Amino acid sequence: MGIWSKKSIAALRAEADSAEGGLKRTLGALNLTMLGIGAIIGAGIFVLTGTAAANFAGPGVSLSFVLAGLACLFAGLCYAEFASMIPIAGSAYTYSYATMGEGVAWFIGWNLVLEYLFAAATVSVGWSGYFSAMLASAGVHIPAAFASAPLTVINGHEIVRAFACIDPATGGHLVDAATSGAFTVREACTAAGGNVVNGIINLPAVALILALTLLLVRGVQESATFNNIIVAIKMTIVLLVIGFGFMYVNTDNWTPFIPEMVTNPDGTTKYGISGVLRAAPVVFFSYIGFDAVSTAAQEAKNPQRDLPIGMIASLLICTVLYILMSLVMTGLAPYTALGVAHPVSAALEAVPQLKWLEYLTNIGAVAGLSSVVLVMLMGQPRIFFTMSRDGLLPKIFSRVHPTYQTPAASTFIVGGLAIVIAGFFPLGLLGELVSGGTLAAFATVCIGVWILRKRSPELERPFRTPLVPLVPILGAGATLYMMYQLPGLTWALLGIWTLIGMTTYFLYGMRNSTIGKQEAGRK
Ligand code: ALA
Repeated sequence: MGIWSKKSIAALRAEADSAEGGLKRTLGALNLTMLGIGAIIGAGIFVLTGTAAANFAGPGVSLSFVLAGLACLFAGLCYAEFASMIPIAGSAYTYSYATMGEGVAWFIGWNLVLEYLFAAATVSVGWSGYFSAMLASAGVHIPAAFASAPLTVINGHEIVRAFACIDPATGGHLVDAATSGAFTVREACTAAGGNVVNGIINLPAVALILALTLLLVRGVQESATFNNIIVAIKMTIVLLVIGFGFMYVNTDNWTPFIPEMVTNPDGTTKYGISGVLRAAPVVFFSYIGFDAVSTAAQEAKNPQRDLPIGMIASLLICTVLYILMSLVMTGLAPYTALGVAHPVSAALEAVPQLKWLEYLTNIGAVAGLSSVVLVMLMGQPRIFFTMSRDGLLPKIFSRVHPTYQTPAASTFIVGGLAIVIAGFFPLGLLGELVSGGTLAAFATVCIGVWILRKRSPELERPFRTPLVPLVPILGAGATLYMMYQLPGLTWALLGIWTLIGMTTYFLYGMRNSTIGKQEAGRK
């Protein structure tokens, strides 16, 4: 009972089919695939690839993309089986409710907040950096105090006052806008003749979240159309970089492909095979989002067929693009030059003939990052929607707007929370937290598929994960291994997050759970 209560698959199927008080079904396979790509290609490829190459793997980062991509593919195949069997917006939360009980389901739902809400906030801050830099190159400067959160994290654990280093002559940033706030030595700024301006709020990030929240409330079809346009722009630009980039690759930059291992002054190591393995969890962030497709389950026209297509197709397309893109980037410039906030531009800078692509790349990044925020802000309210219908969250989260047929109240609440996180909080650590929460959900889904195959082999499975239990074991093993690689501080924060979550469950969820009440009524 209680924490171990499970939802029956029959009840879940009935819920998925019921139109009563429900969301509007308008999305087909193409829209779902585009939503997947919308959520996947973003800060990971446009920002993190460079650091992963420069600090861990060198050109071997493309192998890290292969490894992280394989782990996601195994998890994606497991997601696809569940999504086709239980097409409910709660995604991994609902799958765990059916297989491992309410307590685990709550734990996963709580972790998905890290994936969706925190990723939306994190990526909107990355977007703000690119957007401000683009405006600055057109001569428009957003006042520095209003383009940065008041706090930032340095060295992975020290929280300090964020500031920008402004050139008094031009009003522009003495360091790149995207890295201001992470620029920590105030004296260096003053010595370089700059003015230190403390961050107050990251207004571009706030404005982006507000605009996307309003769009999401207006309608899922409208949001999907907007997403399609953005995805077309970012895919075109990624393909241009790959196509033209390959023509100018200098193969010397790929030799050695996996640089020899080096020991850092603090005793840690970089490069070598272990560097390639260490970079896999870093670039894992780039793949996060394909699972967001499953949160649109109750808005898909033919979810049992189209959810697996949307997830697997978007994942495969992005895996291929990432491997090619990382090969091009490390082929155009020495990997040591890529450890910057704009690694794609840095790679293009190395080849004068590709200068024209730099500006387009910034547009691609601004477009790319905004659709990630959009789809993450779409997924979170839908997971809350399901948790609220199950009684684990207050009823306001499952209210559907009478005209737009979207979970409007929940969307506004999520947008508001994302605004607070993106506008005011330090973000240096959040990327790893997002990965941690997502990895926990992926591992649970892999294990869940295996459990349900054993327990209920007779259930109809429109999509079947191949090679069970091998694929679930590989998926769970790879995701748990990547979790193990996360830094100690991230683990500590994940522990605190879980503690808050479980306390909330015992104080609210367990007492209000619909299944819990039904079970109590039967006694
Ligand atoms: N995969 C998403 C990104 O890279 C979260 O921005």
